[in-house]
Amino acid sequence: MVRIICDGDYGIDDALATLFLLGRADVELVAVGTVHGNAPSDAAAANALQVLDVAGRRDIPVAVGAQRPLAQPLDISALVHGEDGLGGQARPVPGLHPEPVSAAEQLVRIAREQPGECTVVATGPLTNLALALLLEPRLPGLVRNVVVMGGTMREPGNFSPFAEANIWHDPEAAALVLGAGWPLTLVGLDVTMRTWLDESDVHRIAAAPGPKAEFAHSILRHYLKFYRGRHARPGCPLHDPSAAVLAVRPDLASCEEVPVRVELRGEQTRGMLVVDRREFAEHNVPLIDVATEIDRDGLVAEFLAGLLGA
Ligand code: BDR
Ligand code: CA
Repeated sequence: MVRIICDGDYGIDDALATLFLLGRADVELVAVGTVHGNAPSDAAAANALQVLDVAGRRDIPVAVGAQRPLAQPLDISALVHGEDGLGGQARPVPGLHPEPVSAAEQLVRIAREQPGECTVVATGPLTNLALALLLEPRLPGLVRNVVVMGGTMREPGNFSPFAEANIWHDPEAAALVLGAGWPLTLVGLDVTMRTWLDESDVHRIAAAPGPKAEFAHSILRHYLKFYRGRHARPGCPLHDPSAAVLAVRPDLASCEEVPVRVELRGEQTRGMLVVDRREFAEHNVPLIDVATEIDRDGLVAEFLAGLLGA
């Protein structure tokens, strides 16, 4: 059983990632934390509660996390995920409320109670994880591993020429988290732009019965429209779902173990990831696993099986 804590900015692909995890018999979703990014953190929590409700899992706790980045103004990306973060499909869920603690506090509490047990799947800016590290410096030894959707090495950025959105939304937090010395896998645009959900996959979701598939298809409409205007290939990338799938099926990707720094000062390059490949360089940052190759068909099949219960 893989015990997972999700931390995300509950836009469309965060929601799909969580629905996938909830469909796996070998996953126990322990808790959810939310962060600014695709929506304000409290709206993201309402979205997460809606996702859990759709999946019939009102028992899973959701904690609201950081409302803003550590060292730059708040910037919500409403364009990609719609004003509500769910492509116009956000609905309040009567009777469901977030926990009375922050996402960072919730993460630290669970990690202390279940040392070495949980995998953290982070699908938004890394502010909550950074705050949790500040609250509990022993955190890297208390979680099993961390899988982060974020960054890019070879692909162009999707928020600036060099920066991927989750890193760009809080580069200082990303620097803390990538340098914390825990087993961490970075699932960035180099692989997520290749785990493309094709039209035929979308048709499978549209044709599948049940509230999960119906909800997934309803939120995908906005996402597909966004990508239709930008990419020749119909469909959309599976950013956050790729991190979720790789948290349970790491064999579907190949990784490179490298020292990664986050550019914090560049005028054009803030939020860019820098890998020092010099053979004899002294690396003062821990090595992390960066996903470089992906079995696209295997990943999409696994994602659809979890999402649709096939
Ligand atoms: C990431 O940015 C957000 O818009 C998505 O939810 C995903 O986490 C992709 O760059
Ligand atoms: Ca996200």
